[in-house]
Amino acid sequence: MVEFLPKQLECLRALAIDAPAEVVLFGGAAGGSKSFTGCAWQIERRLKYAGTRGLIGRSKLDTLKKTTLRTFFEVASLYGLRANIDYIFNAQSNIVSFTNGSEIILKDLFAYPSDVMFDGLGGYELTDFFVDEASQVSKRAIDVLRSRLRFKLKQYNIPPKGLLTCNPSKGWLYNEFYSKWKQEKLPLHYAFIPATSHDNKYLPASYIQTLERLPEQERLRLLVGSWEYDESADALFNYDDLLRCFRDETLTGEFFISADIARLGKDRTTVCLWRGLQLLELHVMKKQRITETVEFIRALAAKNNVRLQNVICDEDGVGGGAVDSLRCKGFLNGSRAKKPERFVNLKAECYFKLAELVEQNKIVFVSKYKEDIVKELDMVRRRNIDTDNKLSVISKEEMHRMHGISPDIADAIMLRMYYELVPYGKIQYI
Ligand SMILES: Nc1ncnc2c1ncn2[C@@H]1O[C@H](COP(=O)(O)OP(=O)(O)O)[C@@H](O)[C@H]1O
Ligand SMILES: [Mg+2]
Repeated sequence: MVEFLPKQLECLRALAIDAPAEVVLFGGAAGGSKSFTGCAWQIERRLKYAGTRGLIGRSKLDTLKKTTLRTFFEVASLYGLRANIDYIFNAQSNIVSFTNGSEIILKDLFAYPSDVMFDGLGGYELTDFFVDEASQVSKRAIDVLRSRLRFKLKQYNIPPKGLLTCNPSKGWLYNEFYSKWKQEKLPLHYAFIPATSHDNKYLPASYIQTLERLPEQERLRLLVGSWEYDESADALFNYDDLLRCFRDETLTGEFFISADIARLGKDRTTVCLWRGLQLLELHVMKKQRITETVEFIRALAAKNNVRLQNVICDEDGVGGGAVDSLRCKGFLNGSRAKKPERFVNLKAECYFKLAELVEQNKIVFVSKYKEDIVKELDMVRRRNIDTDNKLSVISKEEMHRMHGISPDIADAIMLRMYYELVPYGKIQYI
């Protein structure tokens, strides 16, 4: 049995056939029971109107299957539906079929370069649709979906209906739905239902705690479900804190070398020599052969008595070669974080660690390359987090696109944080 929350009922009421809205946006906090509502609505519609066709869409099919579809199965079982008996999910065609002839198509709605106008959707005839995390989907895709709503509507004498769900974002949904709703100017064919996670008594307390620990703006967005969060607040480093790192202070501790190795000879190879959390030397080299880089790092390590296990190089791309030759620690940006429940990957975890230590005034930088260090670290932005609520930073490619430079210095500095994540002794030495 399904017992709906008040907000879910409000959303379902807006989707009822006698309600005026054609498109309903259920938008707000993570854990606000949005995906659940969408799946329940789809199931109810399929069971009630035999032989009809719904579509559950999301930007990427892969994510849809890992997230929304799981919720779908969970909801289906609450409705007493048995997999492979009352409904069948075909993982090849990505269609869920019901015994009464109804079906649900699972579809990715990412604007692929080959079909940015979504002509591919033109072939569908649908009764209704539910798009999860609609902020990651273009307005054009939704418009095309709306134009496909006609399948068996006459037969059942029902109006076209579509449901969108999302976490607060500053994209087109903000302008089309949230902002107009706030000004009480939302047209009748649209409805907006705000969602907050406190509404959802089915959420584990630990989930709310995780959201409560998020940085302030993300907490507002994902816990409170506020659409008025400050988007510019996503810089990881405070400018004044960064400047404070260039001070005349000598730290003690072990020596470390962290290096970001140039990929395909395009960007720069950056090598940092550290003592404790003090950056003593920064070497930036252009168009170096990998063997030269290896020799350089080896000599630097020898000169300063740096233990091999305290040398870390990024291992993505050609860096792998350097790691092999040096037999040092390799770092893969995308590898699993030490706290995987909080960070999407190790790189994000290291950047957040660096931000924490910079804020706590525990890092000292050399003045050489001061401008570059500040500029690059200032470019590091927190990525808006959705669905899985993990902290993330924008990619090197995105930074390059936005600023025209590759943050090689910032990355090399970030690598040093690896040793701050793992307590000594627990590091797996090669
Ligand atoms: N009416 C309900 N009955 C039982 N569990 C629910 C209900 N609504 C939501 N939930 C639970 O709350 C969790 C979060 O809901 P979900 O729809 O995934 O949130 P959102 O999509 O807003 O992040 C789900 O895993 C689901 O189990
Ligand atoms: Mg969801």
